[in-house]
Parts: sequence; C-alpha cells; structure tokens
Amino acid sequence: MISLFKTGSKSLLGVDIGSSYVKLLGLSKHAGNPHVDCYSVVPLPEGAVIDNNVQDVPVVAEALEKALRLANTRIKHAATSVPTSVVIVKQLEFSKSFSEDELEDQIKVEADQFIPYPLDEVAIDFQIQGESESSPDLNEILLVACRQDSIQSREDSVNGSGMICDVIDVDTYAIERIFPVLSETHDLLQKTVGLVDIGASSMTLYVLEQGEVIYSREQAFGGNDLTHSLTQVSDLSIDEVERAKKTNTLSDELVQGYIAPFKQTTAQQISRSIQFYYSSGTHGEIDTLLLMGGIAALPGIDAAVSRELGIKTEVADPFSAMTIDSRINRHKFDPEAPSLVLACGLALRSFAE
Ligand SMILES: Nc1ncnc2c1ncn2[C@@H]1O[C@H](COP(=O)(O)OP(=O)(O)OP(=O)(O)O)[C@@H](O)[C@H]1O
Ligand SMILES: [Mg+2]
Repeated sequence: MISLFKTGSKSLLGVDIGSSYVKLLGLSKHAGNPHVDCYSVVPLPEGAVIDNNVQDVPVVAEALEKALRLANTRIKHAATSVPTSVVIVKQLEFSKSFSEDELEDQIKVEADQFIPYPLDEVAIDFQIQGESESSPDLNEILLVACRQDSIQSREDSVNGSGMICDVIDVDTYAIERIFPVLSETHDLLQKTVGLVDIGASSMTLYVLEQGEVIYSREQAFGGNDLTHSLTQVSDLSIDEVERAKKTNTLSDELVQGYIAPFKQTTAQQISRSIQFYYSSGTHGEIDTLLLMGGIAALPGIDAAVSRELGIKTEVADPFSAMTIDSRINRHKFDPEAPSLVLACGLALRSFAE
C-alpha cells in the first residue's frame, strides 16, 4: 500500500501550490509561540496548474526554486498538500482481530468498490481512529485516497526545486491545524465557522464545528475573472494588473468600475456556496465567516460580504497570534498575509507530534 501522508518531525516549510502563485512559509517556535521565520510568494505562468493539477512540473519547480531563494532560509524540508476536492475520504469499520497486513488487504477490497479509478493509479492511506461506537469488536478506520499522479506531480515539483518533500497533506487538514491559531485572534469558540478560501481560479467553503471540518465544497470562481476584465479594459498586461491589484495602485475609475462590483459578485458566490451547505443536511447555522486566499486581501471585502450576507465576516488572521521575524518587511508581508494562511497551516506540521 502506498503511503499518502509521509510523516516527518523536523522543521518544514509550508508549500502551497496554487493555480496562480506558489506560497512558501517557514515557522519556528520562540518561547513556545509560533514565529514566522520566512515567506515568499512567486507567480506561476498561466497553464502550469490547471484544475488543481500540476500540468508542468519543471515550470512549477522553477517557481518553487525562486520562492526558496527569496525566502532565504536554510530549511529545505517541506510539507505540501493536495486540494480537498481531489481526495476521497471514507469512514469504514473493520474487525479489531485483523493483522496489519490483513487490514490492508481488506481496505483494498473495500476501496475498489467506491474509488472510480484502477487501484494501481491510486494512493491510499488509512488511520485507525479508535473503537467503533456500534461494536467493541470493530475499529473505525479513516480511509483517504487520491490519484497517484496528483500527488506525484506535486512531490516532483517540490523535489525538483531543491527542497525535500517530506509531507503530502490534504488542504482540509492544514485548515484544521490552523483553526486553533485563528481562534486566538477571532472569537470562534462554540461557533459554526465558515472559512472561505478564494484564490485565482477556485473558491472553497469549509465549515468547521469544534475545530473540525464538517463540510467542504469547491466551486470555480476566483480572481482570474477580475484580472481578465481589467486587462481587457485597460492597456495593462496580466503582470501589470496583478502588481497594481497587490499595491492598490489601480486608477479610481477601475476600482469603482471593476473592484467594487467584483466584491459584490464574491459576496453572491459565497452566499450561493452557503446555500449549498444548508441544503446538504442538518448542520448548524454559520455564525462567523473568515476569508482567506488572495482575494481576501482586497481592501473592504470583509465588509462587503458581511453587508450582503448579514453574517459577521473577518479576514482570517493567524499571524496576530505569532511573532514575525524582524527581517521580514511588514509592508510587503501584511498585504500577502491572507494568501499565506494555507502555507501557514502546512508549516504547522513542523510542530505535529
Ligand atoms: N493584495 C491583493 N489584492 C487584490 N487581489 C489580490 C491580492 N493578492 C492576491 N490577489 C489576487 O488573488 C488571486 C491569487 O490568490 P491565491 O494566491 O490565493 O490563489 P491561488 O492559490 O494561486 O489560486 P487557487 O487557490 O484558485 O488555485 C489572484 O487572482 C490575485 O490577483
Ligand atoms: Mg489557493
């Protein structure tokens, strides 16, 4: 059986390979508290990552190599992840009497029933979660499966950059890992929290209760739509639009004509996503929304979403609960912070047991 989640217990750089940027972040502990040692954000050319799959390993590896250089760190080991949407998770029950080998065989038989790919193309991992509630003779097993090539291309990209890929995680678990840190800054105790990651091409709503992801759904929506509209109506190239968005140097006309309506559209997309969540079953009502990903860096997006949805909305900020290295330029770091949340959740693997 192939191991999906390699484990490591050393300092790890969190590496988030998105469709438009690679994000890298390194943490250490100072007096018991997380400390941001380094970070970098490097753009990817169009087409390098499509539909959550790395299409061009050498190009992504080159961007990661640049990211490693810019981060200026001695840490080389890395944790990266696959998006939740490419992973199949299933809760199963098996007799406690199975040996490890027998259990692996049984899991393969079981997995063959619900995984829509040939098993030799799939990476499968499982975790024994404890005794089943239905019988003391059974164990609950969490099975996680993902197409082998989705993992391999990410691992090859990281390894091709000069880093050493120690961990391939799933975005959901990085989100769960960052949640306690977010709770230190935001009032999330006893709340049903919707965490929305809005990137360049996709938006994912995670709903968390007691720090556990109880629901997640990805939809095709993101900053690319805005970037493309802006290139069409101005004489700016994609790179220039990206830079202007990040430095808030777009003309007032473009801000009024395009950024403001885009915030409204984002709010409507989140609303739609939440409707899907409510229609999925009997889960609790969302008390608070947290926004992350590059689009969460748009000034005033939290207020626009809150106004449209009538739900308390904040930009996810794990870094207020951390110290930031004095070598890091805060004028550059702060506007990038929302897009670094996932990389931060991955870097937290450094402190995992
Ligand atoms: N400060 C900013 N202001 C406005 N937009 C921003 C800012 N920073 C990033 N963006 C936009 O956010 C998007 C990139 O966000 P992010 O890095 O989270 O995406 P990604 O992870 O590459 O994409 P995806 O998750 O969809 O694969 C781009 O569309 C970019 O233009
Ligand atoms: Mg992303």
